[in-house]
Amino acid sequence: MSETLNTQQIIIYFVYLIASFFFILGLKKLGSPKTARRGNQYAMIGMLLAIVMTLLNEEILEYTYIIAGLIIGGAIGMLVAKKVQMTSMPEMVALFNGFGGGSSTFVAYSEYMRDTGVGSVPPTTDITISIVLSVLIGTVTFFGSLVAFAKLQGILRGAPITFKGQQALNALGLIAVVVLGAMLTGDYTQEQYLVAIIAISTLLGVLAVIPIGGADMPVVISLLNSYSGLAAAATGFVLSNNVLIISGALVGASGIILTKIMCKAMNRSLANVLFAAVGTDDSTGTSTRGDRSRVTEYTPEDAAMVFDSASSILIVPGYGLAVAQAQHIVHELATLLQDRNIKVRYAIHPVAGRMPGHMNVLLAEANVPYDLLLEMDEINEEFQNTDLALVLGANDVVNPSARTDKSSPLYGMPILNVDMARSVMIVKRSLSPGFAGVDNPLFYDDKTMMLFGDAKEMITAVVKELKES
Ligand code: TAP
Repeated sequence: MSETLNTQQIIIYFVYLIASFFFILGLKKLGSPKTARRGNQYAMIGMLLAIVMTLLNEEILEYTYIIAGLIIGGAIGMLVAKKVQMTSMPEMVALFNGFGGGSSTFVAYSEYMRDTGVGSVPPTTDITISIVLSVLIGTVTFFGSLVAFAKLQGILRGAPITFKGQQALNALGLIAVVVLGAMLTGDYTQEQYLVAIIAISTLLGVLAVIPIGGADMPVVISLLNSYSGLAAAATGFVLSNNVLIISGALVGASGIILTKIMCKAMNRSLANVLFAAVGTDDSTGTSTRGDRSRVTEYTPEDAAMVFDSASSILIVPGYGLAVAQAQHIVHELATLLQDRNIKVRYAIHPVAGRMPGHMNVLLAEANVPYDLLLEMDEINEEFQNTDLALVLGANDVVNPSARTDKSSPLYGMPILNVDMARSVMIVKRSLSPGFAGVDNPLFYDDKTMMLFGDAKEMITAVVKELKES
């Protein structure tokens, strides 16, 4: 019997190893839009293997609830994933992270109940520490993610919510959790310590996210994603489950790397995102409005003529393109221009829009070929050889003061070199600033043409003109 058990365990560990391999391969493939779909499939195979192997555990006495949970959870997940709009992806990811953190708390708590039940083996110190960590990080992730979701959905104010002594209260909460954790390790029978840790972690989760502005939520969501991984890894230690430790660590590491990439592309530190309370309710900063009499205004008819005489065009999409849902008509415009032998490509800034990969996802939705989407570092040199840079609802990511004006909040942020193109056309509704809340000198440049209006309406009008010409 014991030999069969050993063989079974060896098989389980081996399959866990294969599952971990699929997770790592999946992550690698997610690094490029071309292979991302395949990456997701690999990760799905890994997850399937991990779930099946875990369910073969002979300690499971009753499968009814597990199967019911799988069916109900799977059905809800599938339905939500199918229905969600591309622009609402951050909200969905926030909820998924939150549920990941919440389930870590539940699993760790139920393990605690089992270990302290009548006739069971008491938890060792390292298991008790893992339970405390899992409950702390899991609960912070759950409630932090709910606040992030509420801010993105407009249920809560997007503007930072701050009050005096907020940081001190956070620090006090964290110290209390450490003290209670140490007390629980000293006497594991004191369940009320664990309940108190959950209560304080709930407060910490809410307090950590309310002071952060709505437009910074993608960075926070990525960070919470990392936390949900850490909570899962801690739960892996509680359960002595290797695949959970590995997958949790992978999520934890990749989440923090993505957070770092986003901060770097905005030229802001993580501390600035978390504690500086940047942003307002409309996510457009302090609203320095520009002077309309100093810009050159164009109509869609004028614009159509400019397109016709260009031989190379770089399209720069931004947040406004997503708001206007102009991706399909932009693709139609690009195809029309390519048919006229005009070279058209897209220049993608790493933080254009409001979430990582926002522009890639939008344009992929409109079937724009991946090879036309060029990252900032690949394309920046090309602007100087380009006839026309067409900026669609982008602002901060093309603001030249990031290069020149030390007093600008954007100073130091890497930008797309749109100002170096031979001519520039900017489509937006007004001279309102972007997320950073600062005016953009590019609007007043002699070679810049402003096309004021909704990106979708304006490009639709230009396409109509081009078709008629
Ligand atoms: P922004 O600088 O925010 O500018 C977007 C512009 O779109 C606005 O100036 C707005 O001007 C225009 N707009 C809004 N609705 C429009 C519509 N229907 N049609 C046409 N234009 C419209 O966007 P960006 O250049 O993409 O820069 C992104 C900003 O978000 C950066 O500051 C970045 O740091 C920040 N951010 C990004 C991320 C990620 S991961 N992507 C995360 C957090 C923060 P009008 O009102 O005049 O139309």
